[in-house]
Amino acid sequence: MQTIGVIGAGLMGNGIAHVAAQAGYDVVLSDVAMERCEAARATIAKNLARQVGKAVLTQDAADAALARISLTTMAADFASADLVIEAATENEAVKIQIFQGMATLLKPEALLASNTSSISITRLAAATGRADRFCGLHFFNPVPLMALVEIIPGLATSPQTTAAMQGFAARLGKTAILAGDAPAFIVNRVLCPMLNEAIFALGDGVGSVTDIDTGLKLGANHPMGPLTLADFVGLDTLLSIMRVMQEGTGDPKYRPAPLLVKYVEAGWLGRKSGRGFYDYTGAEPVPTR
Ligand code: CAA
Ligand code: NAD
Repeated sequence: MQTIGVIGAGLMGNGIAHVAAQAGYDVVLSDVAMERCEAARATIAKNLARQVGKAVLTQDAADAALARISLTTMAADFASADLVIEAATENEAVKIQIFQGMATLLKPEALLASNTSSISITRLAAATGRADRFCGLHFFNPVPLMALVEIIPGLATSPQTTAAMQGFAARLGKTAILAGDAPAFIVNRVLCPMLNEAIFALGDGVGSVTDIDTGLKLGANHPMGPLTLADFVGLDTLLSIMRVMQEGTGDPKYRPAPLLVKYVEAGWLGRKSGRGFYDYTGAEPVPTR
């Protein structure tokens, strides 16, 4: 494997491109508009510079990683890729359209993966025309700092494809776990209901943003409070995950908190939109409730 394609240059796509380039792969990074690709490259440059600043990477290695990343808006530029990782918006219709568009463009032997947080890998695989060479490959945010990758084989994923994903994760320096193809897999099945519950608690007036976040940070030793983490993940993404869990299991315990729905309706998506449970427009985040 030498060339990795990454579809979607948002929060996760830029992180996946970053770690793949840092591991020595050539990376083709795409989005719907070149400005988004350029913004992702600027973020990657900033994050590589942080690593140089913390002395975990040399300047030469950072420069070489950035030089390995090329940008495109054309799916045809994935023709040389050995592995393409889809990291577009958490919306099944969007992902299926991407996979159907790629079907005839990829090399026959190329592997395809989705970084979906929650959607059925088996169902997505059916749209790819290469279900045996398709797998879930779930990274965590922020990708350069988070050690885990979940590998989720679908019903038709071949053992060779799963093994190739394990080899890829190892070359990135990540620890891989195998997860079953159930809604939200392992980590998000446990984590996202906790974030959703924190939003219920806020909506019910049980505590302020600061008290809920301080509570979980100091009372449960979480590195970020749940409302900070929800903003960090993206409230639109969290809402999509909760809906997939609710619809996929039929269990009402996964219903999204009404306040989460309202925030997404308002376009308050967390850090990426400048406002969520905190306001990010100033030098420091300011709690909004
Ligand atoms: N690349 C990218 N981002 C980086 C980075 C790098 N090399 N180095 C730091 N960051 C980011 C942080 O997110 C944060 O952003 P701002 O400075 O812009 O505010 C900042 O840089 C913090 O940097 P620090 O050097 O202070 O980092 P830290 O040592 O305090 O650790 C953290 C930060 C690792 C994110 C820690 O707070 C943490 O572990 N938080 C919880 C993260 C978590 O739970 N992630 C999983 C989310 S769920 C998920 O990903 C799955 C899903 O499908 C939704
Ligand atoms: P994001 O909103 O930051 O970025 C999504 C990007 O996909 C946007 O730049 C958008 O323009 C692009 N996009 C949409 N349609 C596209 C298309 N047809 N072709 C190419 N690009 C397209 O979202 P994100 O947080 O990076 O999430 C991406 C995926 O990763 C989702 O499936 C999400 O569930 C998953 N994920 C997210 C997190 C997280 O913490 N945010 C963690 C792990 C996995």
